Amino acid sequence: MTHGQSSSAKAPAAVIDGKAVAAEITDKVAAETGRLIAAGGVAPGLAVVLVGDDAASQVYVGAKGRKAKELGFHSVQHTLPLSTSEAEVLAIVDQLNRDPSIHGILVQLPLPRHIDTSKVIEAIDPAKDVDGFHPINVGRLAIGERDRALVSCTPAGCLLLIQRVLGGNLAGKDALVIGRSNIVGKPMAQLLLQESCTVTVAHSRSRDLPALARKADIIVAAVGRPEMVRGDWVKPGAVIIDVGMNRIPAPERGEGKTRLVGDVAYAEAAAIASAITPVPGGVGPMTIAMLMANTLVAACRAAGQPEPTF
Ligand code: GUN
Repeated sequence: MTHGQSSSAKAPAAVIDGKAVAAEITDKVAAETGRLIAAGGVAPGLAVVLVGDDAASQVYVGAKGRKAKELGFHSVQHTLPLSTSEAEVLAIVDQLNRDPSIHGILVQLPLPRHIDTSKVIEAIDPAKDVDGFHPINVGRLAIGERDRALVSCTPAGCLLLIQRVLGGNLAGKDALVIGRSNIVGKPMAQLLLQESCTVTVAHSRSRDLPALARKADIIVAAVGRPEMVRGDWVKPGAVIIDVGMNRIPAPERGEGKTRLVGDVAYAEAAAIASAITPVPGGVGPMTIAMLMANTLVAACRAAGQPEPTF
């Protein structure tokens, strides 16, 4: 404590630099890809399937393809018009399942309404399901067989960020996951349970969310409600992972301007927490990094080579 500071002043929360952690992971993926190829394997192959013309999906898919190429992967993209039938999408998935140069298949969601999402996900070979959405992979995670599963990228990245701050042993920590989506909330809860946390999953029907949050050593917010988690919900010293990406009006920046905020009121929460992810630059970059890690892991398994851990 330096002179002039009150003894009650709390150090500001550490900002968890997801961009830097993601760069470390992709560096390792690139190095391990070189090792796999040197051992006689082939470059990891990632196929991304995009149906329709959703602008956000086009941006995400483009970023995934670029990163894959940057890491020395074999990268293919199937861009299909909105009018594509379910049968045509299933035929492409089937063709990719059979293609030995492809180790990871990602069908970008949401799919157009005339296509049954579950049917498409279940058509993907679980060994190539680098999104971790197939019921086989969801089930393996749920029964504690993470080492044989492929795990959903965003929650896997969130867990790595939590472990960066708190270390590898999370046993006994109280963790609150806000949101119960199949992509983030549910697999996040499973991963934290696997790490022996005491896990609460809250959602839109939960009673007294602030009280649940105040007990939590770890909060993962993934609800899609701008700045919902307030500073006075946060237990002093908690670690906060903000998965939210909400675009809100920012008239202070000029007419019609917007800005990106998370599900957590950042400044308020950072004053109480010990560590917090920013938006953007926190969880976002981790999702693509973990997709690349999953594709490499799938390629190592296909080649019968040892797989790296992340
Ligand atoms: N749409 C939004 N997030 C995701 C994701 O993680 N995977 C896929 N396939 N689609 C998405």
